[in-house]
Amino acid sequence: MAFREPTKIVAAALRALKETRDAKGAEAVWREYLGRQGLLRQQLRHIGSLPSAGRARKGKALHQAIARVEAASQARLETLRREEEEHVWRHERLDVTIAAPQVHRGTLHPLTLVRREAERIFSSMGFSVASGPEVEDAWHNFDALNIPDDHPARDLWNTFWVKSKIPNPKSKLLLRTHTSPVQIRYMETHQPPFRIIAPGQVYRYEASDASHNMQFWQIEGLMVDRRNTFSPVTLETLLSVLTSFFEQFFRKTVALRVRPSYFPFTEPSIEVDLSCIICGGSGKLADSPCCVCKESGWLEMGGAGMVHPKVFEALKFHSKEVQGFAFGFGIDRLAMLKYRIPDIRLFRQGDLRFLSQFK
Ligand code: DAH
Repeated sequence: MAFREPTKIVAAALRALKETRDAKGAEAVWREYLGRQGLLRQQLRHIGSLPSAGRARKGKALHQAIARVEAASQARLETLRREEEEHVWRHERLDVTIAAPQVHRGTLHPLTLVRREAERIFSSMGFSVASGPEVEDAWHNFDALNIPDDHPARDLWNTFWVKSKIPNPKSKLLLRTHTSPVQIRYMETHQPPFRIIAPGQVYRYEASDASHNMQFWQIEGLMVDRRNTFSPVTLETLLSVLTSFFEQFFRKTVALRVRPSYFPFTEPSIEVDLSCIICGGSGKLADSPCCVCKESGWLEMGGAGMVHPKVFEALKFHSKEVQGFAFGFGIDRLAMLKYRIPDIRLFRQGDLRFLSQFK
């Protein structure tokens, strides 16, 4: 290896250092000249094989060159590291005091709010929440509820029938017309005593108007116990449970009125009316007629009654041994009264201007 003039090597190294733009580059230059395979180190290794004349001078010059390149590399490295740090400080700084962009928070659907509130109140009275399928079979929706195939009462529920790829001749499929089949499903797998509510969506093949929709929510109730207990479940129990529910739900003292009615799955059957929560039952608001109860002072809330012996028998319960009540109300109607909503169709139009008003 030929000896190269150290001052030339130094000049080349200084130029290279000057041209580096970052610390990594400066480190590469250092390696190129001063690393183990670096040019200056190689020169140093060969100094012993040079002719003795001038060897000492060349060695001295080489050591000086190494010291210069070493110092220049360190200085350049420091400068570049400081610049890089400053760049990070200047450009990657986080200002933790800047206000975060507003996050748009959604609101719960009014029917969800009402359903949850009903679940909360009934749970506090010892009811658990049960559910069943929305695509139901005719046996659970009708037959087991004492509404056989040819019974005229089936016409009370205009039904959406479901076409099935694998038709079951014993039980056709339908969109459940009420939540009462959940009573059946629950009793198939539980023994009394029990008390449940079953909120759920139901479907009717009907024209819609301000108070009817083909899809709406119901809440079913069922409480059953043995007959020979100290306090059997009676209509009186039903009325006190419902009074307590309505008073907590509307946060008002209320009165209930019952009228005889007919449902195939209850005997006796009743309609439950609630004293108008707007006018307090007087039928008047100041001097004008109350438009919510149409001056009657009463609001129709839903059907109820004592579970029919035929229903117990369909489930192989001995109707002489057990007794209980059932009820079914519209959740949409509860929401309309609570929030004074005039048209049931508003719940399902997906208009956020309407839906986001409820808390
Ligand atoms: N399922 C009835 C309907 O949708 C409502 C109903 C009435 C439910 C009386 C009951 C009940 O549990 O006892 O019209």
